[in-house]
Amino acid sequence: MPNKGEVVLEVKDMCKYFGVTVALDHVNFTLKSGEVRGLIGENGSGKSTVSSIAAGMQKASSGEMFYLGKPWAPSTALEAQKEGICMIVQEAGTIPSIPVADNIFLGHEDLFSFGPFVNHPKMVAAAQALLDELGIGIDASVVTGRLDLQQCKLIEIAKAMYWKPKILVVDETTTALSQTGRELLYKLMRRLADEGGSVMFISHDLDEMMTQCDAVTVLRDGHIIGSLNKDEFDGDVMKKMMVGREVKGDYYRSDMDPYGEEVVLKADCITTRRDLLCFDLELHKGEILGIGGLSECGMHTVGKALFGYEKILDGRVTVGPQHTVVKDVETAIKNGMAYTSKDRDHESVGLPGSIRDNIASTGYIKNLLVGPIISFKKEKAYVEKEITDLSLKCASQYHSVNTLSGGNKQKVVFGKWIGGDADILILDCPTRGIDIGVKASMYQLIYKMKKEGRSIVLISEELPELIGMSDRILIMKDGQVTHEAMRADHPTEHDLIEYMI
Ligand SMILES: Nc1ncnc2c1ncn2[C@@H]1O[C@H](COP(=O)(O)OP(=O)(O)O)[C@@H](O)[C@H]1O
Ligand SMILES: [Mg+2]
Repeated sequence: MPNKGEVVLEVKDMCKYFGVTVALDHVNFTLKSGEVRGLIGENGSGKSTVSSIAAGMQKASSGEMFYLGKPWAPSTALEAQKEGICMIVQEAGTIPSIPVADNIFLGHEDLFSFGPFVNHPKMVAAAQALLDELGIGIDASVVTGRLDLQQCKLIEIAKAMYWKPKILVVDETTTALSQTGRELLYKLMRRLADEGGSVMFISHDLDEMMTQCDAVTVLRDGHIIGSLNKDEFDGDVMKKMMVGREVKGDYYRSDMDPYGEEVVLKADCITTRRDLLCFDLELHKGEILGIGGLSECGMHTVGKALFGYEKILDGRVTVGPQHTVVKDVETAIKNGMAYTSKDRDHESVGLPGSIRDNIASTGYIKNLLVGPIISFKKEKAYVEKEITDLSLKCASQYHSVNTLSGGNKQKVVFGKWIGGDADILILDCPTRGIDIGVKASMYQLIYKMKKEGRSIVLISEELPELIGMSDRILIMKDGQVTHEAMRADHPTEHDLIEYMI
């Protein structure tokens, strides 16, 4: 390991272009040994781009890098990994169809091979030893696809730690982790820094940044705006640097508007294969119903079950005045329901399509001209408006969603449903990985939908968001509702946490 305080990575005058998009504009940046360095900036500001270039995943358009004093231009992520730079990517970084151990040693099978054969039991044993040493309670021999998002992220962390990296990049990983998962990651990051490694830590959670980092660097529109050391940390200063203007801390709704008496969606003692046992819920017209709890409490399954996406073994979900049974996703959509998943890459957006197709797909009824004929003019204007409302950072509505940064993808998911015709929206962590500027506009849109008489189930791991936005909050633990809080009672985070653990 390099000596503490020594410069390990130097990025000089780096530019990166994607067609007409300028992702990095003459970026200069140094990273020292022994530090946990935060990178913050709004969605699309260039955080993933600069770190993934250092980690060999893509190449810069111009500029230079120096790693431990020598010119650095890795051509692949494997090469960077072997030299000591590992990155945990923002999007899914594991292959579902192979065992955990194979994911951990992907591309490095030669470690366990003799001749053309891979000694698989030996590989599994090595993976298990690694997981155990790191305190990650996962069986190395199971197929990765059977694990959830949090467990997959932990595997990626283990995979990186195996190489005892000199630089570890952690890109928006914590939003996928529960509190226990986060604590574990923080511990490993700190351990690495103490041993003389360095961490580049990317997150939207400023509190997390301020507690975990030794210094932060702020990016905006591909430029480095500046850096702050720990003793200079101040949330408002950071926000201002990120968006280039003053941002008020409070962006939730402030009203006490009531909701209707009519029940528009009802879960009647539903039981699912995992998580839920005789779960009840009533959603009213014009209500924002918050559901919160720790990551594994079953709240994400509630969202899926309501939308007909999770098999219901007993009990039923009914929608609308006719109490239509929601037996599958098709019935849900036909009855005016919409759903956004927490796991956006796998479940939400038809990612291969263009931004335009994705957004237009749910608004098509509105954009009809006569009969089944779509007015392209109306549709184009509709998509443009959604892009402006959400301040989506893209060069054109015809570009593929795949080219967008993680947070901007989530905006597409949101834009898709908000503009649509659904009366009942089930939003599972809708603001996960979204920067503050856009969060604020999303909250306004959610409130606007309530005012229009639409009903919303807001599932969230962030208590301030639940408290700020909901008419009523259900707190869950182990698949059961442990507490119900009303907006009028002004619940505090402290009141609610008690029922979660
Ligand atoms: N593969 C790509 N193709 C086209 N544009 C991209 C690609 N990757 C990133 N971009 C664009 O580059 C900019 C910076 O993106 P990114 O580094 O992912 O932002 P951040 O991680 O800060 O949210 C964004 O405008 C994004 O849309
Ligand atoms: Mg990113």
